[in-house]
Amino acid sequence: MTVMQSRNIQFGEHRYPFHFGVECTDEIAERILEIDADKYVLVVDSIVAELHLRPLLERLREKADVLVIPLVASERSKSLDVVGSILETAFASGMTRRSCVLAMGGGVVGNMAGLAAALAFRGVKLVHLPTTLIAALDSVLSMKQAVNGHLGKNLIGTFYEPHQVLVDLGWLTTLPVREMRSGLCELIKNVLAIAPETHDVLEPALRLDCRLSAHELVPLVDIAIDAKAKVMHDDSRERKKGLALEYGHTIGHALELAAPGLLSHGEAVGVGMLCAAEIATRAYALSERDLETHRRLLGKVGITKSIASTIDPNKVYDLLRFDNKRGYIRPGADELPMILLDRIGEVRTYGGTPLTPVALSEVARVLSGFSISTTSRAA
Ligand SMILES: NC(=O)c1ccc[n+]([C@@H]2O[C@H](COP(=O)([O-])OP(=O)(O)OC[C@H]3O[C@@H](n4cnc5c(N)ncnc54)[C@H](O)[C@@H]3O)[C@@H](O)[C@H]2O)c1
Repeated sequence: MTVMQSRNIQFGEHRYPFHFGVECTDEIAERILEIDADKYVLVVDSIVAELHLRPLLERLREKADVLVIPLVASERSKSLDVVGSILETAFASGMTRRSCVLAMGGGVVGNMAGLAAALAFRGVKLVHLPTTLIAALDSVLSMKQAVNGHLGKNLIGTFYEPHQVLVDLGWLTTLPVREMRSGLCELIKNVLAIAPETHDVLEPALRLDCRLSAHELVPLVDIAIDAKAKVMHDDSRERKKGLALEYGHTIGHALELAAPGLLSHGEAVGVGMLCAAEIATRAYALSERDLETHRRLLGKVGITKSIASTIDPNKVYDLLRFDNKRGYIRPGADELPMILLDRIGEVRTYGGTPLTPVALSEVARVLSGFSISTTSRAA
């Protein structure tokens, strides 16, 4: 059995341990069984259930009462209705205040099980068992638990801290390339916006096929935890310094909404970062050299603006008017608040917030670049 590594996550007054390793399912089972719980409600992604659940479940069932609730992971199923049915199933099978919710899957299952844990008896223990790169390096390092409403993504939710995070990085090696690329884009975001000192660890791991072994993922966990800790230590709700984690998301979200399913979340954020960097170079202080660093790192995993070239820039432009960062500052009618960099690792601030009101004409200019881009996607 491999010994797991442990990091303590601390965001404000919230603390929880993050244990990770390779081929460590036995140790994960032991740590789960050490929890004071009368029952485990194991909410699992149905694909993950086929691939990785059996060894863990066998170990748990030797000693504990485990209810398994498989879920199909999709943005459509990430709803309050599904959270309600998780809870009703759990209550019907005897869940009590002393029961523990285990969330095994990507961000979709993690968010739904996380919200269910927060709501059951006003809060029962929650253990995340992330199986995607996005979940392991992003969503479980945030306390946000939300589901989608009819009118938008992540509209209904709360903050809820897990009891612990346990991950066998071997689980992540069965991810489709698109999902790996998505997670790597979020890691590139961390390096560009928050932790440039981790650049030399990340860059050698970037390649077009995005295939990384479980052992190669180990140092990437540290990059993600360090970047999150840097901005969330005193901002557990990600409303001030933590907004840096939203770098690339303004245009990224609009791209996702303009062409649902065309780009993964991370791919859209990658294109969003390229656009933000172009704006910051043209209109503010970002150097050509730093813009080139964006292009080089993202290009290594196949992200160029051309992957969004079939998306109607007018549609993206219209959707940007509804961006949720408008609530943080009061931009003028012809401005859009965006997270921009003055240099790699340094977010530009405006009136004390990490958001810059960008002229919509600058945004329109960068969006028009989609249709004229000549580079092509490599993988
Ligand atoms: N709470 C937060 O702060 C936060 C942060 C980032 C993302 N999110 C949320 O997370 C969701 C995205 O999460 P995601 O990218 O993990 O997507 P996901 O949960 O939809 O998983 C992506 C796909 O990979 C499959 N999958 C999962 N693990 C697998 C494995 N080990 N092998 C093979 N296939 C596997 C899933 O079945 C699914 O088809 C979004 O809803 C987003 O809003 C939340």
